[in-house]
Amino acid sequence: MSHRKYNILILGSGGREHALVKKISSSKNVYKTFVCPGNGGTSNPKLNIFNININLSNFDELINFVTTENIELTIVGPEQPLVDGIVDMFKKKGLNIFGPSKNASRIEGSKIWAYKLMEKYNIPCPKSEVFDQSKLAKKYVRNFNPNDLVLKVDGLAGGKGVILPKTEDEINKTIEAIIDKKIFGSLNSKLLISERIYGPEVSVFAFVDGGKSSELAAVCDYKRIFENDEGPNTGGVGAYSPPEFWERKLQNKIKDEILYPTINALELENSSYSGVLYMGIMVTKNGPMVIEYNCRFGDPETQILMSKLDSDLLEICMDISKKHFEPNKVIWNNKNFCFVMMTSNGYPGDYESGKLISGLENLKDYNIIHSGTKILNRDIFTNGGRVIGVVGEGASMIDAINQSYKGIGKIYFKNSFYRKDIGKRAINES
Ligand code: AMP
Ligand code: GLY
Repeated sequence: MSHRKYNILILGSGGREHALVKKISSSKNVYKTFVCPGNGGTSNPKLNIFNININLSNFDELINFVTTENIELTIVGPEQPLVDGIVDMFKKKGLNIFGPSKNASRIEGSKIWAYKLMEKYNIPCPKSEVFDQSKLAKKYVRNFNPNDLVLKVDGLAGGKGVILPKTEDEINKTIEAIIDKKIFGSLNSKLLISERIYGPEVSVFAFVDGGKSSELAAVCDYKRIFENDEGPNTGGVGAYSPPEFWERKLQNKIKDEILYPTINALELENSSYSGVLYMGIMVTKNGPMVIEYNCRFGDPETQILMSKLDSDLLEICMDISKKHFEPNKVIWNNKNFCFVMMTSNGYPGDYESGKLISGLENLKDYNIIHSGTKILNRDIFTNGGRVIGVVGEGASMIDAINQSYKGIGKIYFKNSFYRKDIGKRAINES
């Protein structure tokens, strides 16, 4: 890559985006970084990092901004603009953008489309059936114990589209709510009913362009709000890497049976993939199986992923967006990382907001990642359910965990909450 300086735009407002901003602005080839809309951690005018405010669904206005500010690369954080075709729109205008096309983003945008792809190309996944009539769905589920099923809404549902039912009554109510009452909208009223599978879960990432892929990076994400995986599902409140079960044999199996078959299938289905592919995998006793694909970086996995990536993020994203990706340039390290997220009282339900955050001045040596925060008159306030977190790194996983919690212990806001057992699983079993 030449030593020209580029202006970059990152779309999104979470911890994922703050981690991307930190990493990309460390590249010597970056001049200005814009974040839209960003959060309380992503704005740093002294370092040429600026938050801007354009609605992420207004592609025309985003294109206008990119053209006026001479932005050379846009990186898309969240799934909605990808599924809505932002990449196709930018490319039509000759603009560089990192992320998959509308066609390829169906891998996350429609669970039914993704399931049919896996079935057609023999990619290991739980057996599933598609329903658009509640009568047929109810008849089908009678053959199973409720605990053996998972109900999934077809389209994007803001993390609320997967139901792990306990009773037949719960199943029937869910079927009615989604198919008949259309609580996720009339275009999102189909249901995928899957067999429930068991085993440790891992988020596996690869940079991909067409049939080419980097090596894999694996992060374990904690989805439940309370210790011991109790309580409701969240967007993810902690993570660690590498997983204690992440062995060469498993990595090869994932590459041979999942990654390459998936990107080759997408090529054949006129949906060539370009961007970061996120495979949500469960390691069952019959081998790794896909429980979902995402067409983007994960949150909170990216908070760790950006510390695992030894290469220049700008160079990788630029190469992929210009279609001259060299997979060997992607180098993941094998250091130990832990990430703990502080959340607002009430999250993932209705939560408190607008609380003053203090203690951050004592954390200069820590890798702090903001999620739901905002700046007001130089002070930082809570502004979301997932608020702020610390990435710990260490010679051992215990050291990494201790560093995260030491950092978290120095941050204060009223009624804050965090899980105390992030990463524990990795040290108990090693
Ligand atoms: P998803 O959004 O598809 O990742 O689903 C959310 C969570 O539901 C996953 O992280 C899993 O813990 C769980 N899940 C999804 N599908 C299955 C399945 N077939 N069997 C067991 N658990 C599942
Ligand atoms: N960590 C879950 C997600 O990014 O979807």
